[in-house]
Formats: sequence, C-alpha cells, structure tokens
Amino acid sequence: MRRLLFAAIAVALLMVPMLAGQQKSHAASAARIARGKYLVEDIGLCGDCHTPRNDKGEPVKEQWLQGAILDFRPITPMPVWAEKAPTIAGLPGWENDAAIKFLMTGIAQNGLPGRPPMPRYRFNVQDAQAIVAYLKSLAPGK
Ligand code: HEC
Repeated sequence: MRRLLFAAIAVALLMVPMLAGQQKSHAASAARIARGKYLVEDIGLCGDCHTPRNDKGEPVKEQWLQGAILDFRPITPMPVWAEKAPTIAGLPGWENDAAIKFLMTGIAQNGLPGRPPMPRYRFNVQDAQAIVAYLKSLAPGK
C-alpha cells in the first residue's frame, strides 16, 4: 500500500514540470500569434489587398484575409501583374518553412518572386514565423 502511495506521489511530482512546460509553450505560442496579428494588421497591412471590400470600400470583416480581386491596376501595362490576392487565412497549400522563406525573401514556392503588387517583404525570421503562426491560426477561407 505504502509503495503504491510512493509511486503515485513520484508520478505526480514528475508531472509538475511537464505541465508547467506545457503552459509555458502555450503562452509562447499565444505571444507569437499576437505578434503576427500585429505585424499583419498594423505593419504589413496585408488586408489592404487580401481582404475583399464592400461597396463603401471598407474591408469585409467576415472575409478577413480570404482573398480579393484587386480594385487597382498599373497605369502602364506590366508583363507580370496579379489581378487577385489569394486567400491567406489558414495559408492553404503552404508549409510553414516555405511561407517563412517567402516572407523573408519574397521568393515563392515556385522559386520566383510573388507577382506584383505583392510586396517583396524582408521580415526577419522571428517576425516571419510570427506572421505564419497567426495566419495558420485563422480558419481557411472558402
Ligand atoms: C499591395 C497588395 C498586397 C499586400 C499589401 C500584400 N499582398 Fe500578399 N499577395 C498579393 C498578390 C497580388 C498576391 C498574388 C501574387 C502572385 O499570384 O504571384 C499575393 C500573394 C501572397 C501569398 C501567396 C499566396 C498563394 O497562395 O499563392 C502570400 C502567402 C501572401 N501574399 C502573404 C501576404 C502577407 C503575409 C502580407 C502582409 C505582411 C501580404 N501578403 C500583403 C498582394 C498583396
């Protein structure tokens, strides 16, 4: 009986640091997502292109980052120009590493720069990771 009690106490003691560790990493990932949200909403202004607008020109909150047909064009024709900003909520089709590289270099999965007007961002690795964590935390668009 006593042995069982000791065993139970030992197991409980072992679990304390494990649970604390889990809580710590949970807090770290929440902080990373919050940083990503800030970079997307206030620094990169990703929603300006990637969120559709209503007829008053305001972003449609329910379709946040779910992709949009761009409502502007270059005044002289450009050989490469994307008419649509794809959905980036949930980052469908993007592995974390490829998306991080894209945000750090501007080079997409096909080895080419994203077509304009997608900016060629040069985020540092922490910021690129935070943005990817935030985008992956969003429900993918339709
Ligand atoms: C000025 C408009 C504009 C802004 C601002 C913008 N994007 Fe884009 N983005 C685009 C366009 C247009 C494309 C499509 C490029 C292409 O087809 O090559 C694109 C493509 C992408 C892609 C690739 C999507 C895919 O599935 O191919 C990702 C990821 C992305 N943008 C993320 C971001 C993030 C993150 C931000 C903010 C930090 C941002 N974009 C800001 C216009 C923009």
